[in-house]
Amino acid sequence: MKQQVLQRNGTIISQALAGSGGATGMERSHSGVARKGAGVGSGDVELINLIKAFGTMRAVDDISLHIPGGEFFSLLGSSGCGKTTTLRMIAGFEQPSSGQILLDGVDMTGTPPHRRHVNTVFQNYALFPHLNVFDNVAFGLRRARIDPAQVRRRVGEALELVQLTAFEKRKPAQMSGGQQQRVALARALVLKPAVLLLDEPLGALDARLRKQLQVELKTLQQQVGITFIYVTHDQEEALTMSDRIAIMSNGHIEQVATPQEMYEAPATVFVADFLGVSNLMEATSLGLDARGHCRIKLGSFDLLAERGAAPGGNTKATIRPERVRLEPHGSAAGENRIPGMVERWVYLGNAVQLIVRLATGVTIQALMQNSGDEIPYAAGTPVQVHLPPAALRILTDTGVKLASEIAATE
Ligand SMILES: Nc1ncnc2c1ncn2[C@@H]1O[C@H](COP(=O)(O)OP(=O)(O)OP(=O)(O)O)[C@@H](O)[C@H]1O
Ligand SMILES: [Mg+2]
Repeated sequence: MKQQVLQRNGTIISQALAGSGGATGMERSHSGVARKGAGVGSGDVELINLIKAFGTMRAVDDISLHIPGGEFFSLLGSSGCGKTTTLRMIAGFEQPSSGQILLDGVDMTGTPPHRRHVNTVFQNYALFPHLNVFDNVAFGLRRARIDPAQVRRRVGEALELVQLTAFEKRKPAQMSGGQQQRVALARALVLKPAVLLLDEPLGALDARLRKQLQVELKTLQQQVGITFIYVTHDQEEALTMSDRIAIMSNGHIEQVATPQEMYEAPATVFVADFLGVSNLMEATSLGLDARGHCRIKLGSFDLLAERGAAPGGNTKATIRPERVRLEPHGSAAGENRIPGMVERWVYLGNAVQLIVRLATGVTIQALMQNSGDEIPYAAGTPVQVHLPPAALRILTDTGVKLASEIAATE
């Protein structure tokens, strides 16, 4: 059966690496890898009210998602939030407690993993140590009884794709972590999945190599055009590589957005706190003004926030440190300005982080690019803090407690 599936899928790697471009015929990309728009699978994934319970604990708690073919989609969240469980259900290694998984519109319930046109790349590579690179990549094809000439060609193409042609004869132990992970990638791609699932594939590598492979993986994904569902707890990785990101917490999805939307317009307190550094401040919403901006009170100060919903009453306001402006004490007063005092600053190399205590009593962070000039705000300097309305955002409070709040009550 498996062999039939593989053959039905086409006979060369480039056919299997089908994109979602919508083209009806074959088109050849600049990389020389042919892409096929329509065909066996365009890699469209849909999760509908997906639940996975282990005993009374819901590891995945009612997730609904649509990932169109060809998208680089990341599941981002802290340890234990249900990322791997979600991926394992898509792969077929784990059965959902309820809900549906559709691949190209077809319900996968009851379809075993090897019939799903889905392949997984794991963090620990899982290569066979006694086999050389070529044989590792060829393993799945040989097991499917693909004829040797075709195996030779497809493995050759896959190794070229991950730039390991010269390493065919090496054993995994003779290669670096990054090279081994590329072998694992080639081994997954050679089987022509419509969807590639990657579970923290760069997690075991050092920071420098991670960065390099992030770029390579993204390029590879664009070349082959198949759907990548990428699990990571590294926010920078998710922000730099993904077309869209889902941030997960406790088995559910907090927000699905493009990296830019997620960073600039976090919908919930959890997302604002999780992604990057945010200044989160208790605020009271006074409702909208004539221009549709939200009037808020921070302590005794009236401010305007252009962005986010205005639920009214107690809420949280947020602003990214790089959007906070410091002005010399005694500058002309104006809209959205609060007096403050620099408490300390931290040299970060490319920037300087300043901790400023506002007259409302709370401290906020401001980030100033390091322009080479002397930092004008030593500790103890009074300043005027400008929180531009366009950068100030009102958040929907999901009731999630922030780490700082939990620490304060313990
Ligand atoms: N087979 C299992 N039996 C019982 N509980 C499980 C099982 N697999 C996972 N869990 C639990 O489900 C929750 C989600 O686990 P999962 O592995 O999906 O998290 P994750 O987001 O991948 O975390 P990490 O970043 O640490 O890999 C965890 O609390 C975990 O302990
Ligand atoms: Mg995991």
